[in-house]
Amino acid sequence: MNSIKSLKIKVKKEIKRAQSLKELNLIFKKYLGKKGELSLILRSLKTLSLKERKKIGKEVNALKDFLEKEIEKKAQKLYSTLSVEESERIDVTVPGKKPSLGHLHPLTQIKRKVMSIFQGMGFDVIEGPEIENEWYNFDALNIPKDHPARDLWDTLWINQKSKVKNQKLLLRTHTSPVQIRYMEKHNPPLRIIVPGKVFRHEATDPTHEFQFYQVEGLMVDKDVSVSHFKAIIGKFFENFFQRELKFRLRPDFFPFTEPSFDVAISCLICNGKGFILDEQGKSKTCPVCKKSGWLEVAGAGMVHPNVFSACGLNPTEWQGWAFGFGLERLAMIKFKIDDVRLFHCGDLRFLQQF
Ligand code: DAH
Repeated sequence: MNSIKSLKIKVKKEIKRAQSLKELNLIFKKYLGKKGELSLILRSLKTLSLKERKKIGKEVNALKDFLEKEIEKKAQKLYSTLSVEESERIDVTVPGKKPSLGHLHPLTQIKRKVMSIFQGMGFDVIEGPEIENEWYNFDALNIPKDHPARDLWDTLWINQKSKVKNQKLLLRTHTSPVQIRYMEKHNPPLRIIVPGKVFRHEATDPTHEFQFYQVEGLMVDKDVSVSHFKAIIGKFFENFFQRELKFRLRPDFFPFTEPSFDVAISCLICNGKGFILDEQGKSKTCPVCKKSGWLEVAGAGMVHPNVFSACGLNPTEWQGWAFGFGLERLAMIKFKIDDVRLFHCGDLRFLQQF
């Protein structure tokens, strides 16, 4: 206790004698810095009994507070005696601070890329509402009343009816309803793509989100076939992934197309082989395509006659194809991202990589 008292007197004297901010700084370091005398005393308290530790610890902390205040007071005093030139001196040689610039979200970059490729092939970019009614989201697309997609477990229904046709409202589960909205108002020939947000009532995991983006495509004319689709989509892949790659169409089912197919590209990680070599040169299953060699990227098909009829177009007069991509899926393949939830996590460490 005595040495704490004498320390207080000693430091007070030193502070009083200090002539410059530099000297004061040295005093601060000597007693209050990380390796300063007071810090050392605090650390050495470990060896004392609990009772002593409490008592002395309290004193030392009080002294620390006291000295900090004294040094601050003295610093103010010394600072006020500096000449204007000294206190306001600007060091022009200090490197400047770079203001950090924001940039486009990776999904926005991908969306713009997709739009510009299709625009280059004569497609118009169209938007539609995110709150849809049952007619556009399901009925007009030939989705039957008892289809499981209409279930409460897949669709986010809105607790209110549409004023127009007393229709049930929902958050659109896909961008396909925009096909109907567009064909109601525009006569073919037509070529459109529809990027937009869609919603599903489902749990999230590395490959599922309850809110994500799709890009719908639609081309209608007198004489349009699957070969047109293959040509356009092939050009799109080539441009988007900046390399030639194989893709395939396999039979699938969608109520709004007939025939329907799923579209897959050859895996970009293993080049369609299904396996990759690890660091030791041993072959292992490709973690991205899971051995299949293919990555599914879209659903597509020839527009179903019932869809044309629902829009007031004569199905014997017009033909067309349509497709739907998941935008996140394209971005994940292109940027090699393994968890869809990263896109909306708001983590700058993720976003700054793009
Ligand atoms: N609407 C489908 C979905 O959300 C995707 C889709 C498949 C769109 C085939 C199409 C199509 O236009 O022809 O899963």
